[in-house]
Amino acid sequence: MAIISSKKQPHDSTKEPKQHQVPSPAPAKKSILQPEAAVEEQGKQEESMRPQQFADYIGQKDLKDVLEIAIKAAKSRKEVLDHLLLYGPPGLGKTTMAMILAAEMGVNCTLTSAPALERPRDIVGLLVNLKPGDILFIDEIHRLSRMAEEILYPAMEDYRLDITIGKGSSARTRSISLSKFTLVGATTRVGALTSPLRDRFGLIQKLKFYEVEELGQIIQRSARLLNTTITEDGAREIARRSRGTPRIANRLLKRVRDYAEVKSFQTITETVAAEALQLFQVDPCGLDWTDRRLLSVIIEQFHGGPVGLETIAAATGEDAQTIEELYEPYLMQIGYLSRTPRGRVATAAAYKHLGFKPPQQEQLSLLQ
Ligand code: ADE
Repeated sequence: MAIISSKKQPHDSTKEPKQHQVPSPAPAKKSILQPEAAVEEQGKQEESMRPQQFADYIGQKDLKDVLEIAIKAAKSRKEVLDHLLLYGPPGLGKTTMAMILAAEMGVNCTLTSAPALERPRDIVGLLVNLKPGDILFIDEIHRLSRMAEEILYPAMEDYRLDITIGKGSSARTRSISLSKFTLVGATTRVGALTSPLRDRFGLIQKLKFYEVEELGQIIQRSARLLNTTITEDGAREIARRSRGTPRIANRLLKRVRDYAEVKSFQTITETVAAEALQLFQVDPCGLDWTDRRLLSVIIEQFHGGPVGLETIAAATGEDAQTIEELYEPYLMQIGYLSRTPRGRVATAAAYKHLGFKPPQQEQLSLLQ
């Protein structure tokens, strides 16, 4: 379980945050485009690039507007923030947002994830240690066990912990009061939450993919923090290939920086960025080898679809859930894939991107 305490410090956003994180277990090897790839890279350097206040946070304007109002209202009423559910694809800044909320409210933020809360005492331990106003951030909240969820219901609603002591006919329930706190839940699969849990969040907000312009600004900010020189066009070139995701943008920036250093380029220009990313097989739209394989399997083996997710998974050797949560959202976002009631369909744009001749329009509509 990773626990970070974050309170607003006298601010200098270029300094490393004074935070402690228990290292996560080593992950399986992943493509450099996957937001989850190389968890070890999400260590110190990624921490140091996280914005720590709204003023430094680029993008997600609608979300920031909503949260700034919620913060102001809670502060003026001297109340705690409402429980907040953040959902959207991985790598878009859900954890960062929870930490900024804590910093703006001047409270601690405890970070954990649902798979780490297997035993009832794991979640009980976290809840009883919360101070008034604290934020408890639970990542992958759709994966909470039923028991953990049932402990959370009275905790969220009445700041109360109901504990059963003893067994059978001698069992007694005792209630313990908790400090008023804010639960920030994060999920990539909002539909997988049970409705009693979803209904207990006062605010439910979606994080969207970032615009190229916003990612360009994020890359320039990160380059400053990494002491790397990059041109505006260089940042845009990386941004275009970052799948709308800051975590990927920062990871690609680091790979391009390595390339520039090894090749003795003083500055990351558009050409340097393009050369480096071509070497890493990240194409101009940000697709990697697996994206291209998914699309080409649909086109070549299934005539463009519709084809079911499980069939694609079997044909490509990828895990169905990984395809659904990690690859498809971006492919749909850029209009290369559509989900229909009969299965997945590669669009004419996907055919063109991969160098295939798109089927006639009538055939495409017949397929769907
Ligand atoms: N680094 C990662 N995400 C960011 C964001 N949204 N704004 C600024 N820097 C970031």
